[in-house]
Amino acid sequence: MNILILGGGGREHALAWAVKQNPKCDRLIVAPGNAGIAALAECAALDILDGAAVVEFCAAEAIDFVIVGPEAPLAAGVADAVAAAGLPVFGPSAAAARLEASKAFTKEICDACAAPTARWARFADPAAAKDYVRAEGAPIVVKADGLAAGKGVIVAMTEAEALAGIDMIFAGTFGAEAGAEVVIEEFMAGEEASFFVLCDGETVLPIGTAQDHKRVGDGDTGPNTGGMGAYSPAPVLSDAIAEQALAQIIRPTVAEMARRGTPYRGVLYAGLMIADGQARLVEYNCRFGDPECQVLMMRMGAQALDLMQACAEGRLAGLQVNWAQDHALTVVMAANGYPGDYARGSQIRGLEELPEDSRHMVFHAGTAEREGGIVAAGGRVLNVTARGATLAEARDRAYGLVDRIDWPGGFCRRDIGWRAL
Ligand code: AMP
Ligand code: GLY
Repeated sequence: MNILILGGGGREHALAWAVKQNPKCDRLIVAPGNAGIAALAECAALDILDGAAVVEFCAAEAIDFVIVGPEAPLAAGVADAVAAAGLPVFGPSAAAARLEASKAFTKEICDACAAPTARWARFADPAAAKDYVRAEGAPIVVKADGLAAGKGVIVAMTEAEALAGIDMIFAGTFGAEAGAEVVIEEFMAGEEASFFVLCDGETVLPIGTAQDHKRVGDGDTGPNTGGMGAYSPAPVLSDAIAEQALAQIIRPTVAEMARRGTPYRGVLYAGLMIADGQARLVEYNCRFGDPECQVLMMRMGAQALDLMQACAEGRLAGLQVNWAQDHALTVVMAANGYPGDYARGSQIRGLEELPEDSRHMVFHAGTAEREGGIVAAGGRVLNVTARGATLAEARDRAYGLVDRIDWPGGFCRRDIGWRAL
């Protein structure tokens, strides 16, 4: 089978690594890929937001299956274009990807199926939004409606912060489209965890839980980032809570999407807030989390391809994930300065001496090759990932790898997994 993966971050490196282990995979192309991905797959230059270009590429390269990594091509309808060309594709249609692309849409779906989530209201007018904030008081959460590359959410501890957030959103700080409307939500206290399920339009198959660390500094301090590390499973997401989330949030959502004629096919990533033994929905994403995917793939290995294919072809009913009772943890190494300004191009040494096996893997998130060496080419640069019988063992292995990487231009958090350890 010839497989095309769209994307070029740590998530796509982990997907490529798992897919490549499956004997069904004959040829693997990743577009655009990165320097780490290039070690195990072909990388191709391709405009992954252009459905027609992707379809043309698939025909030219005799591709049999397409896996879409990030949300932007999904929201742009790339999965629709590939499916219309008759190829199986892993990733939802643009209509179903609205579960991530519009916060107001997700809230409407929750209301329609009575899924527990934060109380909310939507506004196209800043004055009305501000009146609502003044009436509700802080803490309160202000969100730009559309995709804002992980930004566009202001968790306001004071009324002043919320009012300033509304001004920023309507001023277009997070993009003109994301700033057309604002969603204002009740602040939910609790512990966050992520629940990943595959959906083929009807059947829902849980494939794992994870927790990430959004703040840049040890002890969850400093500014927000795209995620500085993650581990799986998430102990706070107990079997009982997972069952409640499936029964009250995820299965009703999938049924509601099917009822509307826009069935959800792909991985559904539910961000949950857990308090008093109950989960409420924070948000949906229509793709794997990054870096959560890295720990899920480390635990799933080659079967990930079979599951993604079954998902794309509507064959999830009766399937199961074969889990080892193990743990995986990933440490993000970022360029000094991230998430603020950071330099590109610093040399990373020592990677070639590290083990790469079913327990240890350094996934590349933002690297490039220069004169035979690896250099940093992004903010989040490496995802140093390990597996173990316990979370502590996975952590020790991951930091063991970190300590052998010679990269003065980068840093990482030293406390990934602390909540669960
Ligand atoms: P989102 O992009 O919607 O996931 O929001 C980003 C982050 O903001 C989440 O991961 C939460 O940490 C936080 N957040 C979003 N909505 C709420 C809420 N209603 N209550 C508390 N925290 C929230
Ligand atoms: N790590 C969070 C995300 O992928 O959205």
